[in-house]
This record gives sequence, structure tokens and C-alpha cells, in this order.
Amino acid sequence: MKFLVTGGAGFIGSCFILQRIANGDSVLNLDKLTYAGNPENLSSIADHPNYYFVQGDIADKSSTAKIFRDFKPEFVVNFAAESHVDRSILEPEAFLQTNVIGTTRLLSSALDYWNHLCKAGKDSFRFLHVSTDEVFGSLGKKDPSFTESSPYRPNSPYSASKASADHFVRAFNRTYGLPTLITHCSNNYGPRQYPEKLIPLMVLNAVAGKELPVYGDGANIRDWIHVEDHCSAIDLVVRNAAPGAVYNIGGNSEFSNLEIV
Ligand SMILES: NC(=O)c1ccc[n+]([C@@H]2O[C@H](COP(=O)([O-])OP(=O)(O)OC[C@H]3O[C@@H](n4cnc5c(N)ncnc54)[C@H](O)[C@@H]3O)[C@@H](O)[C@H]2O)c1
Repeated sequence: MKFLVTGGAGFIGSCFILQRIANGDSVLNLDKLTYAGNPENLSSIADHPNYYFVQGDIADKSSTAKIFRDFKPEFVVNFAAESHVDRSILEPEAFLQTNVIGTTRLLSSALDYWNHLCKAGKDSFRFLHVSTDEVFGSLGKKDPSFTESSPYRPNSPYSASKASADHFVRAFNRTYGLPTLITHCSNNYGPRQYPEKLIPLMVLNAVAGKELPVYGDGANIRDWIHVEDHCSAIDLVVRNAAPGAVYNIGGNSEFSNLEIV
């Protein structure tokens, strides 16, 4: 299948692309290469005949329109985002720009393209938006798990921007019929994660003999999933889910996603 993947030079997107290329799929990776995007993550497939890279912004409608016209993707998987909660507290507008405006412009380009597909192409096309369980907020120790219909209660500018993007994705499905999907995943761990995130930060600090910063009183709990499992789940959803569907991925279990404060 032909995948347009956005943000594919980042942590999760690069894992997804490596899986797809190994599976025989074709991938065009659209990535702005912010501080979090690292082309080295994909060096092993950089010259693969099924892999294409375009450096660009999901908020740039003219370049995404050209990509849709020329590459003709069957599936879109939108990973591109500002993804670090701490940065969102310092600089929320960058999160509004990429996560909300960028995603909405990408939806618009996808809709223009989808509107011109034949009936069979329209039926099989999917736009999967990769979201987070942080849109649901935090759980107390006695609270039941999140479900796909848990109320949105974002607590940070990051999760507020992801929540807003989710609403635009849903609206493009309900208003225009664009076959969108949304996945909400818990925290990912695994190779190629930017070292500002918790696990690589702790590992690198430990190796360097530096202090390991414990947040709050250390009693908070997060739910984790390996990045390979997250990407396998996304592939399963994009190939099989009915338009408009929403899936939680990962534990999202009783103590999941308790915020570190
Ligand atoms: N990391 C997690 O634990 C986790 C959990 C659940 C959901 N998610 C979601 O998964 C997605 C990927 O997360 P990640 O951890 O791989 O993030 P990341 O920060 O490692 O990678 C983000 C990628 O997006 C690119 N990018 C940023 N702005 C862009 C723009 N305007 N146009 C094109 N590309 C742009 C960056 O260059 C980078 O390559 C995000 O949408 C995030 O919200 C992440």
C-alpha cells in the first residue's frame, strides 16, 4: 500500500516507516525536520526504492496538495506534532501552529484529494490521526480506565492542542465524510526517542553519573507501551477500521497516565 506519513523522522513515525518498508509498502515521509526530527533514524532505508522523503510543513497547503497529487497515497498517517509537554508549557503557540492549524490544513488537502478519487479509491482511503491518551487527562488511583468515549480533559497546552486536533479530525469525518480514524496511545518507549523524554533522559543521565530528577514525590504512575507495538496497532487500525472509528492503544489501565507534576 502507499502511505503518506507525516513526522516520520521522529521517534514513533520512524519506527512505523521502518515497519512499512520491511512489509513491502511504499512510504512518502513529509517531515519539517524540527529539533525532534532526525534523518539518521531512517538511514538504513534512505536509498530504498519504496521510500521517498520531502522536507516540509504539514501546515503548508500548497506543498501537501502537490504531494497528494503526485504521490497519490492510499493511507495517510499523521504523526507530525510538537510532542513535548514541558516545551508546550514554555511555548504553547508552536503547539497551536503545528498540532491544530497544521493538522487542519493537512485535513483540507486530504479532503481536496479524496473528493476527486473514484468510488473505490474513496471507499478504501483512510486518514489516521495519531493522538494521545493525554487528551483524557489524569486518573486517580480508584478511577476506572479510560475508554474511547471518556470525556476530554486536557491538562497541558500539549494535550489541549492534541484534543483540538482530534475535534477537527472528527469534524472532517462528520461534516465532509472524509474517512478519518483517531488512535489514542499511552507513553511510548523504545529506540530513537529524543533524549528530552523521560526514559532516554534517565538512562543518559545514569550513564553520565548525573542526577536522576524525580518529579513530585515519585509516587505518580505512567502507562507504557513499546513503540513497535504502537506502530503495529496503527497499521492494524488503518487497514481494517471503519471510517470515523476511534481506538485507544496501550494499557490505558487503571493507573495509566497519572501526570508527573
Ligand atoms: N511519544 C509518545 O509517548 C506518544 C504517545 C502517544 C501519542 N504520541 C503522538 O505520536 C506522534 C509522534 O510522537 P513522537 O514521540 O514520535 O514525536 P517526535 O517529537 O519524536 O517527532 C515529531 C516529528 O514531527 C516532525 N514535525 C514537527 N512539526 C512538523 C510540521 N509542522 N510539519 C511536518 N513535520 C513536523 C518533527 O520534525 C519530528 O520528526 C505525535 O503526534 C504525538 O502526539 C506520542
